[in-house]
Amino acid sequence: MTTPRLLGISGSLRSQSTNTAILKSLCARLGDQAEMSLFALNDIPLYNADIETQALPASVAALKEAIAQADGLIICSPEYNYGTSGVLKNALDWASRPGFNSPLKNKPVLIMTSSPGVLGGVRAQSQLRETLSATLSRVICGPQIVIPGVNQKIQNGHFVDETTIEFMRAGVDHLIAEIKLWS
Ligand SMILES: Cc1cc2nc3c(=O)[nH]c(=O)nc-3n(C[C@H](O)[C@H](O)[C@H](O)COP(=O)(O)O)c2cc1C
Repeated sequence: MTTPRLLGISGSLRSQSTNTAILKSLCARLGDQAEMSLFALNDIPLYNADIETQALPASVAALKEAIAQADGLIICSPEYNYGTSGVLKNALDWASRPGFNSPLKNKPVLIMTSSPGVLGGVRAQSQLRETLSATLSRVICGPQIVIPGVNQKIQNGHFVDETTIEFMRAGVDHLIAEIKLWS
């Protein structure tokens, strides 16, 4: 198999987002393990079935195409009020159409969450697993990648915690193994 192509999606639009910083650090540390690019959700409108029926917004078409072209996804989400961010849930709703036959179907997905608090966004992680199971994607099992105390692990906008970076790389190994299983 050629080098796996991974797509990273951050659940935060914030310019100084810790979740986006985590994904960027992971990108920089994958070496020849995989190729990885990020898709920013800033231009994705609120889901509206009327708009979807008339003409798919260009940003949504680009998101669905990027997911379709990727061998696997890596999602990194904050926790908002014990769930994932509305931004990410909204993007997954767009990407999940048509239901049960969308670009997310059979797509291997590694979920990661982070939080300034002690629980690392674990409740958002549960919700994401449930949502992605509805899209028939293949959520990676294994040790859950939750990143607590994230603000202490960022320096000058970069995620620098080596222990977590190695933990995430092990998660990517699981993701690649799942990709290879069905390729
Ligand atoms: C509306 C809102 C709700 C939040 N709810 C939670 C929460 O339930 N649990 C938690 O750990 N952090 C919560 N936070 C804090 C976020 O985890 C924190 O703002 C995080 O850094 C956002 O991610 P980002 O840096 O990628 O933008 C909340 C923040 C906001 C704005």
